[in-house]
Amino acid sequence: PKRDWSSDVCSSDLSDMKAFLLIAFFLAIIALSMASEAIDKAATTDNFQDAEDHADLRVTPRIVNGFQIASGKYPWMVELTIGTGGSASRCGGSIIGAYHVLTAAHCVIGEAANAVVAVSDCVDLDSCGGSSQQLTSNAIYIHEGYNNVNYDNDVAIVKFGTAWTAAPVKLIDNSLKYLICGGTPVTTMGYGTTSEGGSTSQDLLGVNLFMFNRPACKAIMGSGVSDSMICAGILGENKDSCQGDSGGPLIALDISLNPVLVGDVSWGDGCARSDKLGVYGDILKFKKGIDSILAGGTEFIAGGDEDPSCYDVSSSTSNDEGVCCS
Ligand code: ARG
Repeated sequence: PKRDWSSDVCSSDLSDMKAFLLIAFFLAIIALSMASEAIDKAATTDNFQDAEDHADLRVTPRIVNGFQIASGKYPWMVELTIGTGGSASRCGGSIIGAYHVLTAAHCVIGEAANAVVAVSDCVDLDSCGGSSQQLTSNAIYIHEGYNNVNYDNDVAIVKFGTAWTAAPVKLIDNSLKYLICGGTPVTTMGYGTTSEGGSTSQDLLGVNLFMFNRPACKAIMGSGVSDSMICAGILGENKDSCQGDSGGPLIALDISLNPVLVGDVSWGDGCARSDKLGVYGDILKFKKGIDSILAGGTEFIAGGDEDPSCYDVSSSTSNDEGVCCS
């Protein structure tokens, strides 16, 4: 006689299978919801803030706007309060010498020598740690070529009477000029507004961007982009610096993964618009003037450290359109 496998063994197998599938289904649902929670969390708190991560292009940027900078990571970062009372304004800056902070000229133009109060090494302005310093300026040096209308040469150095304990950030020089070629991963940071027209942040926030060559930047941001400006952003995303971040750093990493100051926050078209870039002062172009102030000079002279042969000569009219050798 034939045995009907399907009715005895298999039917019990089938109901086992159904139970198994049901359990598997619920387990999968739980796993999925846990995974999406983890991704949400990554999107708001993770920040590929490790230098190794930042330099690694295989890591996809996961932050829509900004991320919190880890305490002590950039001790040379300073918050500047310019003026007092209701007219006080906020900018960013970078310690570049024992007594010197680099910022944007438009932050400090027309201000008295002692109008700037700077706070270093602070990731939360409501409670800066013990290594933070607060100093008041005693001199301001504006780049001699600064143009208050088009923000050409938007850089200044603010001097303090007491030395900063934080080591200065490394400045870009000619040997590192490749860092400002289009495509380089860069980071900017500050305590500025967290959206266009929004309010400023008490926490130090950073955002990871990419460099754009100047010709590409001009095509996007217009002819207002001069030879003293460099651009960074991510098209299609809403990441940028904003009001209150001006003067703050744009950094890239050298081969030892040390931060290198390549730009200072200068201007944009609104903030974080998906089809726009942020425009930064080109520190390499300001190098001679910076060095002379650091050496005790009192005039922020024009002149850079760039190698003209590095420029993109594919430009039809002049050799100053690009910034890259490649
Ligand atoms: N000018 C602004 C300031 O004073 C900075 C603007 C930067 N804008 C931008 N979209 N990246 O703080």
